[in-house]
Amino acid sequence: MTLLAAAVAARRNAFAPYSGFAVGAALEAEDGTVFTGCNVESASYGLTICAERVALVKGVSEGRTRFKCVAVVADTAELTPPCGACRQLLWEFAPDATVVLANLAGKTETHTVRELLPHGFDARLLAPKKG
Ligand code: THU
Repeated sequence: MTLLAAAVAARRNAFAPYSGFAVGAALEAEDGTVFTGCNVESASYGLTICAERVALVKGVSEGRTRFKCVAVVADTAELTPPCGACRQLLWEFAPDATVVLANLAGKTETHTVRELLPHGFDARLLAPKKG
C-alpha cells in the first residue's frame, strides 16, 4: 500500500463529530515502517489531536524517532497542510521529511517540513549559553 493510500484508509477512522473535518495521515519511518493516524476530537475541544501527531506519537512510542515522509489527506479542494503544532513536532522528528498533501479527488502537492517551518525551534537551542 502506498503512503497516500494508508493515509486515505486511516482517515476513515477519524473521530471528528464536532468539526466534521476528517483527516488521515501516514508517516514513513527511516526503516520503512509506516505509522498511520487520524484526528481524534474531544468534547473538551482543545484536547483534540491532529492526524499527523497521532501518527507521529504512534511511531515514537514504537521506538522510531526519525521519519522520511508524511502523507496528509483531507477532503478539501485546497489541500490541508499540517497545523503549527504538528509542524513543530514534525520538525523535531522529521526535519528532512517530504510532506505529501492530497484530497480524495487525487489532487496532490509536495512540500518539505523545512519549507513549512522555517527557523524551527528544537533541542539544539536548549544547550546552555557558553561564555
Ligand atoms: N486537523 C488535523 O487532523 N490535521 C490537520 O492538518 C489540520 C486539522 C484536524 C483537527 C480537528 O479535528 C479538525 O481537523 C478541524 O480542525
